[in-house]
Amino acid sequence: MLNYYQSLLRYLSDTSHQSKKQPLAEWANRLPKDIQAGLCEKRYGDLKQWKDALEALPNTTTSMHKLAHEVAIGQAEDCDAETRENIKQQLQQLIPWRKGPMSIHGIHIDTEWRSDWKWDRVIPHLAPLEGRTVLDVGCGNGYHCLRSYGAGARRVIGIDPSPRFIVQFYMMKHFLGDINVDVLPIGIEALPNDLQSFDTTFSMGVLYHRRSPMDHLRELKATLSSGGQLVLETLLIDGKLGDALVPEGRYAMMNNVWFLPSADTLISWLRKCGFRNPRLVDIAKTTVEEQRATEWMKFHSLSDFLDPNDSSKTVEGHPAPLRGVFVAEAP
Ligand SMILES: C[S@@+](CC[C@H](N)C(=O)[O-])C[C@H]1O[C@@H](n2cnc3c(N)ncnc32)[C@H](O)[C@@H]1O
Repeated sequence: MLNYYQSLLRYLSDTSHQSKKQPLAEWANRLPKDIQAGLCEKRYGDLKQWKDALEALPNTTTSMHKLAHEVAIGQAEDCDAETRENIKQQLQQLIPWRKGPMSIHGIHIDTEWRSDWKWDRVIPHLAPLEGRTVLDVGCGNGYHCLRSYGAGARRVIGIDPSPRFIVQFYMMKHFLGDINVDVLPIGIEALPNDLQSFDTTFSMGVLYHRRSPMDHLRELKATLSSGGQLVLETLLIDGKLGDALVPEGRYAMMNNVWFLPSADTLISWLRKCGFRNPRLVDIAKTTVEEQRATEWMKFHSLSDFLDPNDSSKTVEGHPAPLRGVFVAEAP
């Protein structure tokens, strides 16, 4: 799939918009190898089938797209019923679709998450994205990358190590044309140490999956230009400064959850890692309306992860999911 990344690689290699250090150009040199490793068919058994579905998407004329208030790409009238059915079948090869919703030529992809609700909670608190370069760490299928572009960002790069989500993104981009948004098949650990290149870096839904939250915060800081803004969204617990839950077993059926701090604890971690003016801008309980099984994600979802007799607790007896949004600036 290297051909999907040609315009991104050209952008990163163009040193005219970079500091003397040219960190993006250096990154561009090593990226092709990382992209091939991240999309290695021998490593990911289903990847060939997903790539075939991407390649089988018909070419259509997309009469419009909307990314500012929703993700709507093309209209039903842009193609005939047979073409639309073909598109739907290829999109369904990539089930489960977790982040969205979106519509493609009138096909509504009702995803597990109402990621638009998260976006609505986050966007009012950010430095305007107009004209900014954006990095979205752990971006899933790039839903919020598209919304960032819709909010005026100049260049958006998402990274996520899950190849299913990468292919989902390029299925959407197939109908969008060559917009300045890409999603790379890499984890944060594959980023160069001090990119110091982005105006806004998102890390949403990732911190609790990291074994070392301090390292995660420091890695995020290293992606930002001086004065750039971090947008951090994560699971929290109610509690005071110093409190954090480290579930010994699973949390809401997830086995890779490490640290759920209180809001004050996380603010102190951000300060400790050198961020300026860290602040909590939103806090919300996750509801079974926001995360649920749908036609496009048929597995268990939040209602199965909560105690059936007490929805304030997970099935393991931990506090039910509570999510906070923090913003802070790099020095
Ligand atoms: C809970 S999802 C959040 C997706 C999206 N950011 C959102 O807020 O809806 C966490 C994402 O982090 C990704 N992820 C896991 N390990 C990662 C790593 N080491 N670096 C970057 N992303 C990672 C997963 O593949 C997954 O898509």
